[in-house]
Amino acid sequence: MRRLIIANWKMYPENARDATKLFLAVERRLGRGVGAEVVIAPPFPYLASLPRGTKTIRGAQDVFWERYGAFTGEVSGSILKSFGVKYVIVGHSERRTHLGETDMMVNKKLRHALAVGLRPILCIGERKRDADGVFFAVLKKQIQEDLTKVQKSLIARVVIAYEPLWAISPGRPTGPRDANEAILFIRKVIAQLYGLRAARTIRILYGGSVNAKNASEYFKEREIDGLLVGKESRDPREFIKIVQCAKAAS
Ligand code: PGA
Repeated sequence: MRRLIIANWKMYPENARDATKLFLAVERRLGRGVGAEVVIAPPFPYLASLPRGTKTIRGAQDVFWERYGAFTGEVSGSILKSFGVKYVIVGHSERRTHLGETDMMVNKKLRHALAVGLRPILCIGERKRDADGVFFAVLKKQIQEDLTKVQKSLIARVVIAYEPLWAISPGRPTGPRDANEAILFIRKVIAQLYGLRAARTIRILYGGSVNAKNASEYFKEREIDGLLVGKESRDPREFIKIVQCAKAAS
């Protein structure tokens, strides 16, 4: 399976000019035969100012759950689609933590994204890792709630990103083995909900302090289909090295 790499720019760069510079640097360096599907998720306004990529796919960092209406400040999936967006991140831990997003809200966003034909990237992850494995129950609950009423026929369009909060920068990354184990567990939960085939085909990524030095270790793990990269996606050189690791591993 082709690896999937998401660049989550978060609220960077500080202006449209720098965003274009960064975007063009990534596109220029990507080269041919990338060996991975590369998605760039910039802040919303840059969707309008960035040129269309030829080697990268457009993503967004959030979406609202209604198509249109009196929802000041929100952006619907239909609006995102009209800017060429294909993937959208939902339930990122920074939104859950700083903006009070609940699993119910994440579920609505995810279902709206699917309804308009976007591919949601559902972020889940525990706050703390405990020796007794309570965090597995946390992950299971998030999956169950965030995927409520999502039909089996649509589950293959969902991407899950396992992003433990403590590993997001400036954290310390989850070791590749531990990330693999957690992702295997996520597949088991998907199997219980949607069957074995869905569990095998759904793409599950790891995210949290990934960099050019550790990326290849994650690509070696069987269950990890790709990476969600925050901080290091804003440095074109480092980001390209991460993408090249995927190529080397394929
Ligand atoms: P990081 O961010 O790579 O900077 O840890 C990952 C994320 O928050 O998506």
